[in-house]
Amino acid sequence: QELQINLEQIEKGGFDHFMLKEIYEQPSAIQDTFRGRMLPKDAIIKMAGVEDNMKTFLNADRIIVVACGTSWHAGLVSEYIFENLARIPVEVEYASEFRYRNPVITDKDVVIAISQSGETADTLAAIKLAKSKGAFVFGVCNVVGSSIARETDAGAYTHAGPEIGVASTKAFTTQITVLTLIALRLARAKGTITSTEFRHHMIELELIPEKVKKALESDDYVRSIAEIYKDASNFLYLGRGYNFPVALEGALKLKEISYIHAEGYPAAEMKHGPIALIDENMPIVVIATRKGHYDKVVSNIEEIKSRSGKIIGIVTEGDTTVKKLADHVIEVPESLELLSPLLTTIPLQLLSYHIAVMLDKNVDQPRNLAKSVTVE
Ligand code: G6P
Repeated sequence: QELQINLEQIEKGGFDHFMLKEIYEQPSAIQDTFRGRMLPKDAIIKMAGVEDNMKTFLNADRIIVVACGTSWHAGLVSEYIFENLARIPVEVEYASEFRYRNPVITDKDVVIAISQSGETADTLAAIKLAKSKGAFVFGVCNVVGSSIARETDAGAYTHAGPEIGVASTKAFTTQITVLTLIALRLARAKGTITSTEFRHHMIELELIPEKVKKALESDDYVRSIAEIYKDASNFLYLGRGYNFPVALEGALKLKEISYIHAEGYPAAEMKHGPIALIDENMPIVVIATRKGHYDKVVSNIEEIKSRSGKIIGIVTEGDTTVKKLADHVIEVPESLELLSPLLTTIPLQLLSYHIAVMLDKNVDQPRNLAKSVTVE
């Protein structure tokens, strides 16, 4: 028994929980994801699964992303990235809906299946359906040799290393990293970005691990915010553009491990419903980085403030406007808007983690949830 406990402590590498260890592994996990695949100096991105199927990718009418849970959120981020950089239309589908919807799929479609475990039953079934209709299926998995990795026509691993905590953290950021590399490679091949832009994006991506480290320095401050709001019964998360899916993911993290009801919304949709929920008891996490529709998000913040909602702003370093309006601001380093989800997601992971710990919940193995869902 004692040996067992000690072993687990060693595996946790000095952290109290696997989730926290995995949150802190993100700088190196992201680096491992692009290592050897991206050479900014030579303006090269090389991924065998993409190179070998370049014609198929370039001839595709559209990309359909299928995934579940956190992987679905990474898919949503990639929709913005693919469309913006490579100008390929993207649809992002819950695998469970896609497989039963009699979807229109042809051999001109590229399906990207995203899965940390590579074992999710619905995602696997969606892949089989897409293959039967003649689509080319590309996998983005973390677990090497997993069922989805084997079932797909080609793929790219995330190389995040084992993820033990049920609530996904480093799998999410490394999925976004892989998908960004693919989008950049396709954009270059299609000529939808210039060689200067291509190189600039790579240089910025290379800086992300250091910036994630910087974002992690907010840990103690995030814990102090968690202390204030841990007893709230509801949370709202708002974001726009690339950071709309991050709002969804932030809300999911809180639900999963603290059992507090939370909803993620695109900031501009607030007026179509969630605004009715806002009062002085409602904490609202707003992602308001300087480059992402900043002025519009600032006016959303003003609307929340006039209804006495409590605002936790996720802002770019040195921000002054949101600081004046929000109850708390958590800073993340500046980056390209397209890469900002890799940074803004960090304080949201920490916030849910600290709240769950304070509420004495089982962080690594929340009730009713499984790390990989191999049944329908
Ligand atoms: C479960 C896990 C989630 C995960 C989802 C999809 O619900 O608890 O963390 O995001 O499955 O899993 P996958 O392995 O396919 O990414």
